[in-house]
Amino acid sequence: MSRIRTAGLLKMKQEGKKITALTAYDASFAKLFADNGVDVMLVGDSLGMVLQGLDSTLPVTTQDVAYHTTCVRNGAKNAFVIADMPFMSYPDVATACQEAATLMRAGANMVKLEGGEWLVPIVTALTRQGIPVCAHLGLLPQSVNVIGGYKVQGRNSEAADKLVHDAQALEAAGAQLAVVECIPSDVGERVAQAVNMPVIGIGAGNRTDGQILVMHDMLGMNADYLPKFTKNFLTGHDSLAAAVSAYVSAVRDGSFPGPEHSFAE
Ligand code: KIV
Repeated sequence: MSRIRTAGLLKMKQEGKKITALTAYDASFAKLFADNGVDVMLVGDSLGMVLQGLDSTLPVTTQDVAYHTTCVRNGAKNAFVIADMPFMSYPDVATACQEAATLMRAGANMVKLEGGEWLVPIVTALTRQGIPVCAHLGLLPQSVNVIGGYKVQGRNSEAADKLVHDAQALEAAGAQLAVVECIPSDVGERVAQAVNMPVIGIGAGNRTDGQILVMHDMLGMNADYLPKFTKNFLTGHDSLAAAVSAYVSAVRDGSFPGPEHSFAE
């Protein structure tokens, strides 16, 4: 796999090439994803749910994410790896810089933080310290207790305008990538068009600059519950490699996510 960096991701957006991303937590899957064309791997705090069996991401620690970031880096030396900053690891600038440094030392290329314009001082400081930042907007799982559940965001025009405003503010502060989660397709498109940085969607329609899924959802590993915006790519394929390739192809040609995986406009 050739080495992708932020400039390469920006070039993909400028050339209209979709970015393919998956969560990854260990060396074996990281190698499988790298070998089958996944551009970006996220060591998500979703590990609390899919690896630790918890019902939210809140108990996940920076040490947990750092451990899995090193595992992913060991399996995919050239991969572009984003590490999630967990719940309450960025309450102020100084703490955010220390926690992010732990993740960068563990092997991350970039850190991801959940939140809008209020993160501007933190994003500015991280960027100045040489730590690339991915913003996370829309549904913010770390704020599930404030939001009152895992609900689609940006449904009215005021909320949609706020998402666009937040993305622009975070980009101006230094963010070089954004993830938007569970928002209507037209809002996903608006955010992607409003900023220069690439915007990767999950449950945000197929008009963002790329897609990400939790790997366990993409492989249909939670048979009890498959969120609307995910698809089991193992169905109809006889190997993990074929399933990952099918996901990569479907994101690149825009066939995933289809309307059945997206939230109405
Ligand atoms: O933690 C995670 O896996 C994430 C994705 C849902 C984008 O943040």
